[in-house]
Amino acid sequence: MIHAEELMKVYQMGDNEVRALDGASFTIEKGEMVSIMGPSGSGKSTLMSIIGCLDAPTGGKYLLDGVAVENLDETQLAEVRGRKIGFIFQQFNLLARTSALENVMLPLTYAGVTGKEREARAMKALERVGLGDRTHHAPSELSGGQQQRVAIARALVNEPAILLADEPTGALDSKTGVEIMDLFQSLHRESGQTVILVTHDAYVARHTERIIRLSDGAIVSDEANLNPIKAGTPRAEE
Ligand SMILES: Nc1ncnc2c1ncn2[C@@H]1O[C@H](COP(=O)(O)OP(=O)(O)OP(=O)(O)O)[C@@H](O)[C@H]1O
Ligand SMILES: [Mg+2]
Repeated sequence: MIHAEELMKVYQMGDNEVRALDGASFTIEKGEMVSIMGPSGSGKSTLMSIIGCLDAPTGGKYLLDGVAVENLDETQLAEVRGRKIGFIFQQFNLLARTSALENVMLPLTYAGVTGKEREARAMKALERVGLGDRTHHAPSELSGGQQQRVAIARALVNEPAILLADEPTGALDSKTGVEIMDLFQSLHRESGQTVILVTHDAYVARHTERIIRLSDGAIVSDEANLNPIKAGTPRAEE
C-alpha cells in the first residue's frame, strides 16, 4: 500500500523556491489501477519518482507497505526499488544494439539471477507481453509499441507488486497506445499488480479505475472512474 501525507518537494533555485509538490496526500491500495493527470510542470513525474523511491520528499510522509521511506538509506532504497517496483517511461529507455531478451534479463542480472533461470524468466516476461517471437530483435528492429512491450517485460521480470509508468503511451500513436492500455489492464486483472500511470490523455486515463489530478504540486481532484473503458473499444464510440 502507498500512503502519502502532505508530501512536499521544494527545489531551491538561487533565490527562488520551486514547489514541485506542495502538500499532496493520498492512499493507493494494493491492486488499484490509477492514473495521474495534470498540466506540464504540475509535479507528476516528481510524484512518480517519490512513489518509486527514486527520490525523497523534502517534507511530509511517505509510507510504502507501512515502511517510512525517508528512514531508509540508499542501499535499502535500491533494494526496495528492485524488489517492489517496475518503471516504464515514455521513451522506452531500452539499451540500443542489445536484444529484447538481453534488455529484459538486465534487472535479473542486477538481482543476481544467472544462467538458465535468468533466460527462462526473461522469455516468460516477453511471452507475457506478446513478444515471444521477437526475443532476438534489437530495439531499432522493433516498432514503437513493441519497444514499449519490451520495456514493460523488463519492468515485470522481477514480479514487482507496483508498476509505475510515466506517459507510457505518449510516444505512440493512439491505436498502439490503446494496445498498451489493454496490456496494463490485463496485468492488473490477472496478476493483481498495482498500476499507476501518468498521462496527458483523458481517454487513456479513462481506462483506469481512479483518476488523480494535480495542479501546482497539489491534488485538486481524486475520483473513482466506475466504468473504465475496456481497451479495444474504438475511440469514436465513447
Ligand atoms: N531537479 C529539479 N530542479 C529544479 N526544479 C525541478 C527539478 N525537477 C523538476 N523541477 C520543477 O518541478 C516542477 C514539476 O516538475 P515535474 O517534472 O514533476 O512536472 P510534470 O508534471 O511531470 O510535467 P510534464 O507533464 O511536462 O512531464 C516543474 O516546475 C519543474 O520545473
Ligand atoms: Mg513529467
